[in-house]
Amino acid sequence: MGKAASAINIDDLRTLAKARLPRMIFDYIDGGAEDEITLRRSVDRFDDYELQWNSLVDVTKLDTSTRVLGRKNPLPFFISPTASSRLFHPKEGEFAVARAAQKAGIAYSASTLASQKLEDITSAAPDVPRFIQVYVWKDRGIVKEFLDQAKAAGFTGCILTVDTAVAGYRERDPRNGFSVPPKINAQTVSQVLARPGYLMDMATSPKIRPVNFRNPGGGSANDVMGTINNLFDRSMDWKGAEWMAQEWGGAFAVKGIATKEDAIRAVDHGASAVWLSNHGGRQIDTSVPVIDLIPEVRNVLDSHIELIADGGVRRGSHILKLIARGATSVAIGRAYLYGLAAGGEEGVARAIRILKDDVERGLSLLGVPRLADLDDSLMRVRR
Ligand code: FNR
Ligand code: LAC
Repeated sequence: MGKAASAINIDDLRTLAKARLPRMIFDYIDGGAEDEITLRRSVDRFDDYELQWNSLVDVTKLDTSTRVLGRKNPLPFFISPTASSRLFHPKEGEFAVARAAQKAGIAYSASTLASQKLEDITSAAPDVPRFIQVYVWKDRGIVKEFLDQAKAAGFTGCILTVDTAVAGYRERDPRNGFSVPPKINAQTVSQVLARPGYLMDMATSPKIRPVNFRNPGGGSANDVMGTINNLFDRSMDWKGAEWMAQEWGGAFAVKGIATKEDAIRAVDHGASAVWLSNHGGRQIDTSVPVIDLIPEVRNVLDSHIELIADGGVRRGSHILKLIARGATSVAIGRAYLYGLAAGGEEGVARAIRILKDDVERGLSLLGVPRLADLDDSLMRVRR
């Protein structure tokens, strides 16, 4: 059993991740855009929502299930798409995350920028419910090929990310000399030598890079900001979203919505799920914490439309608060990435377990045995 297995909370996994990763890699997970105000506030804002509870309710049996992109999920949370998991665990990457999700029975999402082939993720975790996240290439032929590849690999939901017309300005990345694949040069050599275990893993496994598309432009797409800015299509619009929803022909989420008007547009253009997100504070800084937005967006959507929320989740109580405000399900990003870096599959499993225990304990203490019965009558905003 590794150290990650005995982490008490997500912050412990973060501490272990920090000790394991070269600084440029840790900061790519941990950091956000510009002054990182959204990043911090998205976590802190949960504390302003204060809880009451129902006393003397029988909580011997709990039902923590919900649905995500049309499928039953035994827990209210699932794995958000994040780029190139092999950066954080060079040997296993996406396999470790998908396997841990499979064991917990929760859904997994792969990023466009995944560092393992979609069909290999399927072989590693054949039973995990899985969704594909899409950034849109200028060449729509590549988009179509990518969607077909995902369908062939058994991905059942598609996630179009719409908060990333260009990359946010994550200042830690250029300061540290972060790139994909990670390079060892004058700027990074001391960071890498300080983490010999990581260096060994990186040196004895294939180059870490996105592997699910051909790189038509080549050129300067050598870091995440470069890839997004050079490869992906800034002219993407709602007509393009509708084309994609039709091309996909199944459960379709639009991720990175921030207004009720766009939530309505998403549904009008074919979305079965609206995903409120500020991309974990990595895109436009000083954007609104998602928890504040949920009711006004839920109110304009038909009840069959799913509302997904993410951002800043480090505790099960954060998940319960998002659900209580009206989210159907909650996506987690850094919480499992810290676990992945801390201890591969075991670390991701630990992150999921910590949040699962929090959720079960939380519902028991709130006196709400069924997640579906949780609403904001037990919550008030601190003045
Ligand atoms: C992300 N996120 C993201 N989103 C997406 O649609 N495609 C992607 O490739 C990535 N890549 C990515 C990398 C890293 C390192 C992070 C931390 C995040 C955003 C992600 O899906 C999610 O919206 C946020 O991570 C949620 O915030 P928390 O849970 O990390 O606070
Ligand atoms: C990120 C991009 C890849 O947040 O979505 O790093």
